[in-house]
Amino acid sequence: AAAAALPAAAQPFPSRTLTVIVPFAAGGPTDTVTRLVAESMGRELGQTIVVENAGGAGGTIGAQRVANAKPDGYTLLLHHIGMATTPTLYRRLAYDPVGGFETIGLVTEVPMTLVAKKDFPANTLAEAIAVIRRDQEKLNYANAGIGAASHLCGLLLMKAVDAPMTTVPFRGTGPAMQEVISGRIDLMCDQTTSTTEQIKSGAIKVFATTTPARLEALPEVPTSAEAGLPEFQVTVWHGLYAPKGTPAEITGRLSKALQVALADPKLVARFAELGTAPVAAAMATPEAHRKFWLADIAKWKPIIQGAGQYAD
Ligand code: MLT
Repeated sequence: AAAAALPAAAQPFPSRTLTVIVPFAAGGPTDTVTRLVAESMGRELGQTIVVENAGGAGGTIGAQRVANAKPDGYTLLLHHIGMATTPTLYRRLAYDPVGGFETIGLVTEVPMTLVAKKDFPANTLAEAIAVIRRDQEKLNYANAGIGAASHLCGLLLMKAVDAPMTTVPFRGTGPAMQEVISGRIDLMCDQTTSTTEQIKSGAIKVFATTTPARLEALPEVPTSAEAGLPEFQVTVWHGLYAPKGTPAEITGRLSKALQVALADPKLVARFAELGTAPVAAAMATPEAHRKFWLADIAKWKPIIQGAGQYAD
């Protein structure tokens, strides 16, 4: 009660538990990255960081919650490339998808992989493309809603092979992955933070990475260019945000803690196992993050407009 009576400015930040919202389901790629970062940042800040999943609508439900939260640094958002695509994909949102946030820092860039159920009747990307062109809408392609990385990757794939599939949206690729493993979903494009271990255990098939170079975590998997589809390229960057109006001292403190977390050897080792790596410390700042984010909005705008698939 004594502490609560003090003016907010007199209390050192953070003086209580923080919450970071993951705008996708538990067990998926954003959740995996967030839990590793939150554990390490919490240690640095001397407070627990609770991870809360608020999935749905391609990440816009969770983002909206944070945009509308109190700008005191205690409610944060860890979101991905969807922050750059939703401003163009969604023509009506109940929050400002750019002006509603303060940036804290970039976190990681995650490669993607095109994966399929174990008994999908193809073993190479070329064979998979032939099956997609033949069976088209008979095939189920899972994604995590419009604005999700898996949605974006699917748009690029279907454009590249010039054939549609039936899209099945989930609240995140965590639950979608279970359906690929069980064979109810045919194909999905998902981040290595979710697919690497399933590929290694043989639970699912993989056709290609979406990166220019092969991945250390999956050295036997060809790149999209090697497999004959060079235009099929996407990496999923993640960043940490606070609601608009969060004081700069607080986002600065959080950025410092993020930089410490990203240098944590345990986190770095786990990221490597999952086919990713933290960004350089210089990118884990509010300024670098904002610059990168705004440039990525501009980069994706014409691509999305060209594809003409909006969420209304
Ligand atoms: C997730 O965490 O479920 C993913 O990042 C969803 C996606 O964007 O594909």
